[in-house]
Amino acid sequence: MITTKLSRQYLCMTIVASLVVLFAAPPAHAQAAAALYSNKCAACHGTDGKGDGPAGKYLNPKPTDFASSLKGKTDDWIAKAIKGGGGAVGESPVMPAYTDLSDDQVKELVAYLKHFGS
Ligand code: HEC
Repeated sequence: MITTKLSRQYLCMTIVASLVVLFAAPPAHAQAAAALYSNKCAACHGTDGKGDGPAGKYLNPKPTDFASSLKGKTDDWIAKAIKGGGGAVGESPVMPAYTDLSDDQVKELVAYLKHFGS
């Protein structure tokens, strides 16, 4: 029957469309880190991590471009800077300590920050 054939085609298309949506979306953790970054960090560090966020411009010292400031730094060092603030790694205390972030969130942020350099 035509109607069954049509509805079967429709069902197939729906399945294909859902699969496309599922696989085209970036992994949830990458989205979470990007959202965290834009909520908490971009005002100072800038959307592209270059240290040119709207608030960053008025800081002294200004946040440095992650692409160069994170060169040669270990993940642990970066995590310490986020959790303990600038003072914890001998940098500007203007960099706040994010003690409320979970270890997983910090880990995802570390990975997110490192992508600015590549
Ligand atoms: C109030 C402004 C401000 C906010 C908000 C902020 N930072 Fe910073 N951040 C700084 C400053 C200033 C420095 C120190 C730059 C220097 O001394 O060279 C810094 C340094 C750092 C460093 C050390 C490496 C470097 O580039 O010097 C890391 C890592 C870092 N910030 C990550 C983050 C993350 C992740 C967030 C959000 C969770 C964040 N920051 C939010 C201002 C800020």
